[in-house]
Amino acid sequence: MLLENMTNHEYRNAMFLYSCALKSIITKLETINEEFALTTKKNPIESIKGRLKSVHSIAAKLKRRGYEPTFENALAFLDDLAGARVICSFVPDIYKIAEIITAHSDITVLRVKDYIKNAKPNGYRSYHMLLEIPVCLSTEIKPTKVELQIRTIAMDFWATLEHKIRYKFEKSVPDSLNNDLLECANIVAALDTKMYDLNKQIETYTQ
Ligand code: GTP
Ligand code: MG
Repeated sequence: MLLENMTNHEYRNAMFLYSCALKSIITKLETINEEFALTTKKNPIESIKGRLKSVHSIAAKLKRRGYEPTFENALAFLDDLAGARVICSFVPDIYKIAEIITAHSDITVLRVKDYIKNAKPNGYRSYHMLLEIPVCLSTEIKPTKVELQIRTIAMDFWATLEHKIRYKFEKSVPDSLNNDLLECANIVAALDTKMYDLNKQIETYTQ
């Protein structure tokens, strides 16, 4: 079905599984955070957000990739119809969350992209996981894909601004802005390291 002909109601029905999978991963992440708060008095997660990709963004992404903008193509070719983003204070918390999610026996990790160890050339840093989460319906279990992005507050700050700039200038971001963004990305990486070290020092004082 062509996306532009879908009613709101049809879109919501078509996204039902993704909406359930998103709720499921968000609950798992909240559980992890609350368990850590109870056992260690520390919250590794600052915030969790989930979103279903809008009809408009689905159609735009399919067209960009040279596919007809149909819902069938979205199911076949897009991995981020459901997306969750977790913001942590410190880099080691990102790896801790990723490790715990990976160890969940009902979740399958289909792909990992570690843009923290290997930042993108523009400076983008984040930890991406493509997960498959079982959605238990009345008569069957449907494995459903969710893209999970885990990043620090500072990485998120950078990514939000970079996204805004890229959106404003479309393909022609001036070189000077790209250079400034890359410089900021390096500052963000250094800040993340320094903040973690500082936090470790604080913990030695308060123990
Ligand atoms: P796309 O989904 O088409 O981006 O390709 P992919 O699946 O290979 O993407 P990847 O895992 O590299 O990135 C998916 C998502 O990460 C994007 O939709 C963005 O939300 C985010 N992302 C990736 N690269 C950048 C970047 O350079 N800047 C910002 N702000 N976000 C990015
Ligand atoms: Mg993707």
